Amino acid sequence: MKKDSPIKKAIYPGTFDPITFGHCDIIARASRLFEELLVAIAIDTNKSTLFSVEKRAELVEAEIKSMKLSNVRAVVFKGLLVDFASFQRCSVIIRGLRAVSDFEQEFQMAYMNHKMSSDIETVMFPATDKGHFISSTFVKAIGKLNGDLTEFVSTNVIKALKEVYE
Ligand code: COA
Repeated sequence: MKKDSPIKKAIYPGTFDPITFGHCDIIARASRLFEELLVAIAIDTNKSTLFSVEKRAELVEAEIKSMKLSNVRAVVFKGLLVDFASFQRCSVIIRGLRAVSDFEQEFQMAYMNHKMSSDIETVMFPATDKGHFISSTFVKAIGKLNGDLTEFVSTNVIKALKEVYE
């Protein structure tokens, strides 16, 4: 993104239950396009989560730190994403797209967010080979059965999963 671009700050929202290498790939790529990137951990998500919001945020913060991305920070938000994005003066929402199966839900979410706040645009990043088949749900399922997760999440996340499941 050019320095004189009006779009300086973007927001990458999610449940991050837990953060995976797929999410990290999107964070790294988006951090190169915007001057500032907020990784926003939702309290109001449709999913029932394994980790508390505090733990999800702690795990996201640890990944940002290990990626050494000085223009990225983790924030927790409550309520509507568009309201939080406006409050933070973010006009771009970042989302990752893995497969056709993600498309419909992401398309609907982008549509609804744009209807609620026409100043906000959603930018979708196609997943690369680093994150194409990863999902937090599978990570939890494999973690519960003590499977090998080293290709999908960091050692920090593996440790957190072990603490829950042991
Ligand atoms: N690589 C690998 N996996 C990826 C990925 C990528 N690039 N991008 C997403 N994923 C996976 C995640 O692991 C996750 O897997 P899961 O479904 O098994 O948990 C899934 O895709 C998407 O999860 P996540 O990125 O954490 O986002 P989400 O869909 O849970 O987030 C919110 C939804 C939080 C953005 C949405 O509920 C929200 O905006 N809430 C606030 C309230 C609001 O405004 N509601 C109205 C919305 S219209």
